[in-house]
Amino acid sequence: MTAVLTWLGHGTWLIEADDTKILLDPFLDENPSSPVKAADIDADYILVSHGHFDHIADAVPIAKRTGATVIAVFEIAEWLKNQGIENTLAMNVGGSVELPFGKVTMTIAYHSSQLPDGSYGGNPVGFVLTIARKRIYFACDTALFEDMKLIGMDHIHLAVLPIGDLFTMGPRESLRAIELLAPRMVAPAHYNTWPEIEQDVEEWSLDVRHVTTAQPRVVSPGGKIYV
Ligand code: NI
Ligand code: MN
Repeated sequence: MTAVLTWLGHGTWLIEADDTKILLDPFLDENPSSPVKAADIDADYILVSHGHFDHIADAVPIAKRTGATVIAVFEIAEWLKNQGIENTLAMNVGGSVELPFGKVTMTIAYHSSQLPDGSYGGNPVGFVLTIARKRIYFACDTALFEDMKLIGMDHIHLAVLPIGDLFTMGPRESLRAIELLAPRMVAPAHYNTWPEIEQDVEEWSLDVRHVTTAQPRVVSPGGKIYV
């Protein structure tokens, strides 16, 4: 089985594993770089890494329309229930869950997490998805942290890292993250959405080729990566 990832701009990804659609951090209608609108997206599962609007903005309407199961840290899962979401799967950092399409593991992330109405969002997280024995690591919003070495100890096929800087690690730190994770492929995210996080992704891609062993996979919003 091949998993197909479509970048929907910013931190939003659609992962298709056979007939299962997994949507990560849905931020579409207000996202200036998104190629699609929330009303046009189907999902079986929605993963939410933390409570900031640019990761959860469209989770409630898409979950209500599709009946998708929303996977998030306990505090966000509770908040979503209060928003009328019926299907939630609460987890916490370090835990894994086996689902029909594969395994979801929640990892640490160094960031913050407040929900749009000011509610406490618990700890921010990243995710490792294991689909057909291939591991895809979504760092989501985070600083560089040395424990990425632990995450990389089980072979990572594709690492998706933020490179926008300002709110997350930037291009330079992402090179260190790649060293720690040692993934086969690496894709950038969370950049060029707004002027504040504009980055030269071609330059980044050259640096990845020169100083790491990973293959850069750069796509435009709407572009696909085959894992
Ligand atoms: Ni954030
Ligand atoms: Mn963000």
